[in-house]
Amino acid sequence: MNFTGQSVVITGAAGGIGSALTRRFLSLGARVFATDRNQEALDALRDELGNPAAFFASTFDISREAECQEFAARVRDDWGMVDVLINAAGYFPLTPFDELTYAQWREILAINLDGPFLVTSNLLPLLKKSAAGRIVIISSASIFVGVAEQCPYVAAKAGLIGFMRSLAKVVGEHGITVNAVTPGLTMTAPIKKLFPKAAIAKATQARALKRDEQPEDLVGAVCFLASADAAFITGQILNVDGGSTFH
Ligand SMILES: NC(=O)c1ccc[n+]([C@@H]2O[C@H](COP(=O)([O-])OP(=O)(O)OC[C@H]3O[C@@H](n4cnc5c(N)ncnc54)[C@H](O)[C@@H]3O)[C@@H](O)[C@H]2O)c1
Repeated sequence: MNFTGQSVVITGAAGGIGSALTRRFLSLGARVFATDRNQEALDALRDELGNPAAFFASTFDISREAECQEFAARVRDDWGMVDVLINAAGYFPLTPFDELTYAQWREILAINLDGPFLVTSNLLPLLKKSAAGRIVIISSASIFVGVAEQCPYVAAKAGLIGFMRSLAKVVGEHGITVNAVTPGLTMTAPIKKLFPKAAIAKATQARALKRDEQPEDLVGAVCFLASADAAFITGQILNVDGGSTFH
């Protein structure tokens, strides 16, 4: 795959999966707007990459409408258009249902469901300027099985599938595709922190492929959906969980 000359926006770019995607799109020739709410982590990623000219960075919160509008204005000024948008930012705390407050529910929905809507709708005018716009949404394989301690997160990630399929119908006439990737339990920093080792080992044993899922395992699926080869695929889920769930 080759993304030379392509303009790619990635949210959650400083995170485990987002940074793996940022590295790969840069190595495949794209220029990347790496965005995250964690400025320090974005700076660290820029340093690790050697501050390449193709690396653009912006710190903002995807759940805040005004910040998404400001970011879209900056992309319009700096680039004038966008070819690929990857919605990878996400927030997934564990909370027992009987301790869950409405404020927590709202916060988790605001980041995981409202956020991709806000980023996508504000960047849509710039995606329409691409000859072949691509939107990829990182949902979660948890939508197939449910997670007792993650009710709002799983609800938001399932909601993204409805958004993705409906949006595919809205933007198809502009040649833009919209698809979702559903990762399984993937070894990023929050998972290592939140999940007991025994729970991770159990998830690994329950897979057809008996090893831990790594952020790099998601990269091929996302790049494929963002590529010219996926031009006639839209409104679809590509599940990447090592064979934990089949659907
Ligand atoms: N790791 C997993 O097991 C797993 C499984 C299924 C789906 N996912 C999804 O994959 C994506 C990446 O997750 P990850 O495991 O790399 O986690 P991560 O925490 O390493 O990365 C997520 C990034 O999103 C950023 N972020 C969070 N809230 C934000 C906001 N309001 N505005 C802007 N940036 C924000 C964080 O700062 C972080 O850098 C998420 O959407 C997550 O829900 C992860």
